[in-house]
Amino acid sequence: MFSHLTPLPADPILGLSALFKADTNPAKVDLGVGVYKTADGKTPILGAVQQAFERLSVSEGSKVYISPTGWPGFTEGCANLVFGDALVEKMGDKLGAIQTPGGCGALRLAFEMIAFADPETTVWVSNPTWANHIPTLAAAGLKHKVYDYYNRETSAIEVEGMLASLEAAKPGDVVLLHACCHNPTGADLSAADWTKVQTLLARKGLVPFLDMAYQGFAAGLDEDAAAVRAIFSALPEAILSYSCSKNFGLYRERTGALFIKGEKDNSRDALVTNLAQLARANYSMPPSHGAALATTVMQDAELMAVWIAELNSMRDRINGLRNSLAAALEAEGFEGRFAGVARQTGMFSLLNLSPEQVARLQSEKSIYFPGNGRINVAGLTDTNIPYVAKAIASVA
Ligand code: LMR
Repeated sequence: MFSHLTPLPADPILGLSALFKADTNPAKVDLGVGVYKTADGKTPILGAVQQAFERLSVSEGSKVYISPTGWPGFTEGCANLVFGDALVEKMGDKLGAIQTPGGCGALRLAFEMIAFADPETTVWVSNPTWANHIPTLAAAGLKHKVYDYYNRETSAIEVEGMLASLEAAKPGDVVLLHACCHNPTGADLSAADWTKVQTLLARKGLVPFLDMAYQGFAAGLDEDAAAVRAIFSALPEAILSYSCSKNFGLYRERTGALFIKGEKDNSRDALVTNLAQLARANYSMPPSHGAALATTVMQDAELMAVWIAELNSMRDRINGLRNSLAAALEAEGFEGRFAGVARQTGMFSLLNLSPEQVARLQSEKSIYFPGNGRINVAGLTDTNIPYVAKAIASVA
């Protein structure tokens, strides 16, 4: 059965961690997998989450199965964070929600739901998009097309190109959009761009699918949700995959949610029971621990205040690093070539470097990031920025 299978290359993002660990160069720098890091390179458990853990260790009392839709209160808490109370109320029973194993689990379940509803659906993805989007939709049996999004030379979004590409979409096609902190470019649509995209989606009868893995990392919890709120408020059907990996620092706990808005007033039952059945045939139910921690935080005003302060400080630190790297590159004489780094948001920027230049940075300088040129800005420190800037100057 299996003897014809051959080993596969490592994942372009996750595979970098093992290579980095094995590198003995004391100057090595890890700008690979998108995880937040402190100035000393650690990814600690957030203080609010640690306090929730301590409470939960006393109160949980059982590891019996949870409901297929997840830990009580979790999707409601996430819905309030993303949509806000007023929109949740407005959508009422049009909105279906289910807890998922991480944001990736939400994407996969959503793609399976789309394939189940209409196997001929085409999903439109941005050029470029997160390295795992296309494999995940393909694994669910869907096909994709690509819309223009980003110009590497100018490090700017090409919204007119994006709109022109999407003119070719058919009614019922799904358009996958990054809600904020676009991965891998760090370049987000402006409010005016979002309005143009929303108008096109509505005019052409396209189904928006917002992937949100970084709420709070661009400008703030409410600010980052503006596009999601506008689209879910205005369009009859919409999908949102949500991850708590980054903003709650719950990476390994696989904590996420999937929301689908249906057109009919009583859509919820059909959406949730179909999602639960797809999940049952896959992993039965989501793991509870991360969702229990996030819910404990979201249901307690004191822990929420601690968490929001921690989230703000992660965002501020990353933005400071963006400015420092852009200035250090400018000082190396690049004259605006990497100025986009300072303007962009979230964990990532896509440096205008060739795969060969990225490979040289890895082999000659022990600086690790994927071959498309994406850096995890959170892996920079005030200490390694001069080294990184000089290294980039030595290959570019
Ligand atoms: C990333 O893009 O680096 C993260 O979302 C981790 C992953 O799963 O790829």
